[in-house]
Amino acid sequence: MFQLIPGAFNKFMSFFLPLVLMLSGTSTEKLDKYSQYLGNDDYTGIAEVYEDYFPVGCAVWSGQLDEEGIQDFIKKNFNSITFEWELKQIAINPRENEWNIGGTQKIIDFAMANGMKLRGHTMMWSVSSTWMAKANGDPDSSEFCTKDVLFERMDAYFKEVFEKFGSVIDDWDIVNEPSYFYPWQTYHPNSDWYKIAGEEYIVKAFELAQKYGNDDDKFYVNEIKVLNNRTKENNLFKTVEMLRSKGLRVDGIGIQCHLDTVSINESQFNLERLLKRAKKENLDVQITEMDMRCYTTNDQEGWPDGIMPEWIKYWQMNKYQRFFEIFREYKDIIKGVTFWGLDDAHSAVTWEGKRADWPLLFDVNGKPKENFFAVCDF
Ligand code: GLA
Repeated sequence: MFQLIPGAFNKFMSFFLPLVLMLSGTSTEKLDKYSQYLGNDDYTGIAEVYEDYFPVGCAVWSGQLDEEGIQDFIKKNFNSITFEWELKQIAINPRENEWNIGGTQKIIDFAMANGMKLRGHTMMWSVSSTWMAKANGDPDSSEFCTKDVLFERMDAYFKEVFEKFGSVIDDWDIVNEPSYFYPWQTYHPNSDWYKIAGEEYIVKAFELAQKYGNDDDKFYVNEIKVLNNRTKENNLFKTVEMLRSKGLRVDGIGIQCHLDTVSINESQFNLERLLKRAKKENLDVQITEMDMRCYTTNDQEGWPDGIMPEWIKYWQMNKYQRFFEIFREYKDIIKGVTFWGLDDAHSAVTWEGKRADWPLLFDVNGKPKENFFAVCDF
């Protein structure tokens, strides 16, 4: 029943789990084990720790590369980069014939100069509305274009993006967040693309990727909240099956992993089950946008005095550690793990600005936290 009511299970557990944890007094022994390393600047970067497993990446904005120390921090810790913003159509091609690719190129140059992989995030983002969907090409208009016009524009867009960046980017999120939460509603109903063309926009996107991409490129369906809801997971696999039944190549699935500390269904068990299923379907997997909120629900007030309670710190560290254990176990299909941001000061979660949050492995000064030492301890 919980699978049919999105968020209900989470809401239920989000109330009880913290209560149980607080009352039972979570052991902080393990936290102490890693706390002793805090302040150690002489650590081995996480990408190097994982060099026999998979690339470890981060999401960046080009402007961050100008901040003091950031380039060195990235070079020390990551060997793969995702464009946090500057490869989305809304950023690089906000109007017909208008291209803003200065930031994109800056990230590419940095990655190339340092031998890093690049992830192409993203071609068709289901919930992003751009000029390409509009009757007269005006991004602010509320009138949609026809399916034929959309497909012509998509063709031109894919051609241009692959011509510009195809030689340096190998892994592509061809569609981002296409699926929905209900068994009777497989695809995101509020997507402009879906409203215009139904699931055919997803088919067209993969056709065009194959038409303009390179043979050794890897094409992904990237999806959010897959671990939280089995119906969403089923819809993701249904999408892959639908595309493959039309003879299209889908190499892998992107599991975003925007997690929170206490959602009980974002469990090791569910992760492992999902990875087994992907393996059976002959799909590569990339963890594409990992971070972990310290709150139980979106509307929760900040923790008193802006201080993260020890039990949450422990719980977060433990969850990160458990997830990385599974990632290592499935290294044959996991082709990369990317964090969404750099550190607690450079994170989309922190920018939400409603309250302090601490979602990543590094603190606001880019120093490794217990989370870092826990995932690197194996
Ligand atoms: C989704 C998108 C990302 C990013 C995040 C929010 O996960 O795939 O590109 O916009 O939302 O930070």
